[in-house]
Amino acid sequence: MKNFLILTLAGLLLLSCGGPSDLAYQVNSPDNQITITFMTLNGKAAYTVGYKGNTQIDTSFVGFEFQGQAPLTGNLEVTSQQISTADETWEMVWGEQREVRNNYNQLKVTLQETAAPNRTFDIVFKAYNDGVGFRYEFPEQDAFGEEVVITEEMTEFNLTGDHKVWWIPGDWDIYEYLYTESKFSEINAYEQFIEGDHLGQVYLNSNSVNTPVTMKSDDEIYLSFHEADLTDYAGMTLKVDTANLAMVSELVGNDSGIKVKTSAPFVTPWRTIQITDRAGDLLESKLIVNLNDPNELGDIDWFQPMKYIGIWWDMHLARRTWDYASGNHGATTEYTKELIDFAAENDMGGVLVEGWNTGWETWTDPNMRDTIFDFTTPYPDYDLEYLANYANSKGVQIIMHHETSGAVARYEERMDTAYQLMNKLGIHSVKTGYVGTIIPDGEYHHGQWMVNHYQNTLDKGAKYQVAINMHEPIKATGLRRTYPNAISREGARGQEYNAWAGDGASPPSHLPTIAFTRMLSGPFDYTPGIFNLSLKPYKENHPIKSTLALQLGLYVNIYSPIQMAADLIDYYKGNPAFQFILDVGVDWEQSKVLDGEPGDFLVTARQEKGTDDWFVGGMTDENARPYTLKLDFLEEGKTYTAKVYRDADDTHYLDNPTAIDIVEMEVKKGDEISVNMKEAGGFAVSLLAK
Ligand code: NOJ
Ligand code: CA
Repeated sequence: MKNFLILTLAGLLLLSCGGPSDLAYQVNSPDNQITITFMTLNGKAAYTVGYKGNTQIDTSFVGFEFQGQAPLTGNLEVTSQQISTADETWEMVWGEQREVRNNYNQLKVTLQETAAPNRTFDIVFKAYNDGVGFRYEFPEQDAFGEEVVITEEMTEFNLTGDHKVWWIPGDWDIYEYLYTESKFSEINAYEQFIEGDHLGQVYLNSNSVNTPVTMKSDDEIYLSFHEADLTDYAGMTLKVDTANLAMVSELVGNDSGIKVKTSAPFVTPWRTIQITDRAGDLLESKLIVNLNDPNELGDIDWFQPMKYIGIWWDMHLARRTWDYASGNHGATTEYTKELIDFAAENDMGGVLVEGWNTGWETWTDPNMRDTIFDFTTPYPDYDLEYLANYANSKGVQIIMHHETSGAVARYEERMDTAYQLMNKLGIHSVKTGYVGTIIPDGEYHHGQWMVNHYQNTLDKGAKYQVAINMHEPIKATGLRRTYPNAISREGARGQEYNAWAGDGASPPSHLPTIAFTRMLSGPFDYTPGIFNLSLKPYKENHPIKSTLALQLGLYVNIYSPIQMAADLIDYYKGNPAFQFILDVGVDWEQSKVLDGEPGDFLVTARQEKGTDDWFVGGMTDENARPYTLKLDFLEEGKTYTAKVYRDADDTHYLDNPTAIDIVEMEVKKGDEISVNMKEAGGFAVSLLAK
């Protein structure tokens, strides 16, 4: 773009460019550091994004393909534009902080096709201080008839350099990959994609990546691409063009080639680009939740953030089984009672019980999995009603488990009865699971059909007062703001991989990468807190690549309103490090990312909601890292009892992972605490106000 004619219009710049009817419009973030420019160029719609005077997203065209219609990519004219601004503060029901400021300037342009079929749509751009969001809004119109079938959305994101990228393949079925750190020009999703691997179900359509995908430019600007408010639409992957340093949206489809089936009026999810100088600011950004609608469920006082234990790691260690027929069934009345008692004694809110229901003998059998689980019939050695009551009488909740084994149409049929049962038993949360390819055949975990299913679980949950923790989910896109019963989810390679055979254990860089990629989308049920890090005697030669101090730090570093203490309870009994898990908060007044770099390390501090107590977590990758924790965030004039849990001199994640140095001291604002994070190590600090 050159030779602009710039007109100022109530904060909006009107620029003339390209052909005679081509115009450009600009909107700036409230701090004027981010500039979005929208333009038509020879009738095609495009945008650019600048940050501090430099172009970050170069001229990127947008368009759509529809079934039975010409593509919507040209002959466009702007018929109106509107600028507006918003500055409001809203309260999270639970979250990383109590209050969230939602402050942006908005540009809305209406586009009209100048040739048949004369379709019209709006593009709404929101410029925030921490990035941009934009979406397409299609009003009702004759050109569309009853039904609209989108066969592709082509939103381009053209980069201005060969950035460093932390990425996973744009798999349509699963996100549980290790991240690769590479130059953008070196992204090769096919190399990472392993058909028939232990991921369970995989499908890759092109050299593409899933979001959030995070990048760092040569001039040290951090960028992360994702989407917000994914509702009644297909998930978006980003197809990469390594030669031209370009990305374009590729929606997840189904085997009949349909990406989105809808009817006008409809809106797309927000396409988001977070842009910051400091890596930590990406994590502090609330752009994704801000781009979602306000809370529709109210206070949901039937769900409280909690720590929980469970009959779970047992099965991943192969110490017990989900199924009853093995004779080594985990979910027995007796064992569950033992866990309820332990939870009650240690102020844990919940006990997850997997394998309580009939069907696990054949749950992955292709001929049986469609009908196997009814979600209501307990095994004979599990007294469902008694245990739910026993738990409630002790102030603990059973966490229900619904593994669908991918048979989702069947689950839909059975959901109402199953959710009613939870309601009757006073069970207010469920962990759902979608292992295996989706039935009906031809659908994928991240397509529109499944997006709508995941939403159905939230709606059903809201009706029966049940909060949802989805495994094998659709990625989070900030819907927790609208539906605060969307409490947590998997959608990344969790702790369970560390217990599995082969090369399952994740490398030390995994969690510091997850923190700056997956975590930008929302809470992760990673299931921290493994104390028996060698896994012996259950597994041989299978050490988890983490020190004990790192495991503790995860309660602060990897946010979720439900945090599991995932190990067998025997490893907690009498262990002084368990005190940190007892003390640490699960709901926060405020959060500060003190330091960190994707793939390398992270230090986070959070103030517990409703108290003056602070908690700090630190973790590093395969490199040891001495760190001086500066207590600048504490309140002036207050004294705190600090309990520090840090790697000891002789800690090593491979042969001495549980060595930990625990010290107590009195501290105040401005004091410093030295920690020496060992390889794959970390630290945790509780700061209890006196
Ligand atoms: C995979 C889940 O991620 C895991 O947590 C669960 O135990 C199994 N599926 C069985 O449902
Ligand atoms: Ca999983």
